[in-house]
Amino acid sequence: MKINKKVEEAINKQVNAEIYSAYLYLGMSAKCAELNLKGMANWFYVQAQEEMTHAMKFYKFVLERGGHPVLPAIEGVRTDWKAPLEMFEAAYEHEQKVSALINNIMDIAMAERDHATASMLNWFIDEQVEEEANASEIAEKLKLIGDSKEGLFMQDKELSTRVFVDSTQPAGGAQA
Ligand code: FEO
Repeated sequence: MKINKKVEEAINKQVNAEIYSAYLYLGMSAKCAELNLKGMANWFYVQAQEEMTHAMKFYKFVLERGGHPVLPAIEGVRTDWKAPLEMFEAAYEHEQKVSALINNIMDIAMAERDHATASMLNWFIDEQVEEEANASEIAEKLKLIGDSKEGLFMQDKELSTRVFVDSTQPAGGAQA
């Protein structure tokens, strides 16, 4: 069954929102790199890559269901962040907004009785729990670290280990 028009419109907006998320995190990655916090720069860079896979999952779904992707301009993001805590708190706040957007698409899909979309969205609903938890956990750690330079560098080192995995793919492998 071809995608419902209201659902199609909402998902097209979400493609834009996910690319915006990638852009937002790329800006944070750049700022961390400038601050010589290479681990945090890595963490945000990987996050930006993940956001692009989210965008592509929505984009491909629109096409698969016979819809028409519309690709309007991506809004610019701020890059003048002052400190890591500010960035991770903003990331947590942003992810809560993304969760609300996805819940809203689910509400539309359910109202339109579009079960295929609802099934696809379940993946994103689960993913958002993780997305919120990851950003919030690091923000909380940074609060505990406070002004300790040593603590900050240890946290930076920990975040340098994050590796990009395309979790939108069944085996977590590379995108086809
Ligand atoms: Fe695509 Fe960070 O949610």
